Amino acid sequence: VFAHVVRAPEDPILGVTVAYNKDPSPVKLNLGVGAYRTEEGKPVVLNVVRQAEQQLVNDRSRVKEYLPIVGLAEFNKLSAKLILGADSPAIQENRVTTVQCLSGTGSLRVGGEFLARHYHQRTIYIPLPTWGNHPKVFTLAGLSVNTYRYYDPTTRGMNFQGLLEDLGSAPSGAIVLLHACAHNPTGVDPTIQQWEQIRQLMRSKGLLPFFDSAYQGFASGSLDADAQSVRMFAADGGECLIAQSYAKNMGLYGERVGALSIMVLDNVGKGKGGGWLKDQFFDSHSHMECCCLVTIKVCKTADVASRVESQLKLVIRPMYSNPPIHGASIVATILKDRNLYDEWTIELKAMADRIISMRQKLFDALHVRGTPGDWSHIVKQIGMFTFTGLNSEQVAFMTREYHVYMTSDGRISMAGLSSRTVPHLADAIYAAVTR
Ligand code: LMR
Repeated sequence: VFAHVVRAPEDPILGVTVAYNKDPSPVKLNLGVGAYRTEEGKPVVLNVVRQAEQQLVNDRSRVKEYLPIVGLAEFNKLSAKLILGADSPAIQENRVTTVQCLSGTGSLRVGGEFLARHYHQRTIYIPLPTWGNHPKVFTLAGLSVNTYRYYDPTTRGMNFQGLLEDLGSAPSGAIVLLHACAHNPTGVDPTIQQWEQIRQLMRSKGLLPFFDSAYQGFASGSLDADAQSVRMFAADGGECLIAQSYAKNMGLYGERVGALSIMVLDNVGKGKGGGWLKDQFFDSHSHMECCCLVTIKVCKTADVASRVESQLKLVIRPMYSNPPIHGASIVATILKDRNLYDEWTIELKAMADRIISMRQKLFDALHVRGTPGDWSHIVKQIGMFTFTGLNSEQVAFMTREYHVYMTSDGRISMAGLSSRTVPHLADAIYAAVTR
């Protein structure tokens, strides 16, 4: 009965690792998947993660019971605080509901399904280009996917004018996916002034922001700096969704630990988010009350958040019942302990700095070889990836002749590079562009 099943293509990102693993060459280099490697080319488990795991093992009172559908409560609270800031008014006003999900992907999927069920607009705008999984996640969640211009291949920088035009002509209320920082795959982020323009435009049109925050702390080395875009939107009191991942910043790739936060409109209605959650989850009577009495307003807003949570449970329960306990316990242990937290920020900064130093090294190596072209974008782009501008034929050549593995769009994971392997990559790029 399955004889008709056709072979599906490998995943454009994870499939690169599959091909890499099959290659017997001793010089092979995997710059495909965004996963951090040490200078020795090895995956790393952070010291703070080891310490947190030790604490968890030593605590004999810990059991392996099911978590609630929404996950570990402490983890959820700490995750919201991490992305929104310790003094976030939205948290204090109970306007945020956070559920533990299966890393960034799971958070996006749960958020997407919630929107498909409860939001009046089913179109999500994603940047062009974006992470290859985004369109698939949102399509399968039941949303229809559209794109907005983001990257300009001629400057290898932002197409900010195109972005403003496309979001400006998006239908009112449309959902817009935003990379919180370290845009994947381009490594090109808006400046703070540009973020502010994006925020104003989106709020004026009632566009709903859905942030994908997969690299907090990884781009600049500062957790606060990398959360700035999200916090700008959170500060205006409007609605927004945030998907967080701990894969990169805590190195918990395989633990699949992340969170989805949904922020509802603030109780004084100063947010310009369109008030859709309020309309959806308030009846008109309670809406009236909301506008009259401050105390009731606070309760009602918190009530919207809790009703949103009740619906998120209906999305999660038939999908995977409840999330796994181990990764979330590690994260919670680190985030709640001042010493571990501080140690984490140091380890995180060291990873970010190593990636930044690889940019300079690669740029210098290309320069020394007299590689034709302007490679300054390598040092200008930020985060885990460089969008090299190499085309798919050049990539295929580099893989075939130099055993360098990367995605066919020319993206390389700077986190997979080391001082030892930079010369080999520079040789491969030189050969690809001069042949
Ligand atoms: C990547 O873009 O390489 C990472 O986000 C890993 C993945 O799941 O694709």
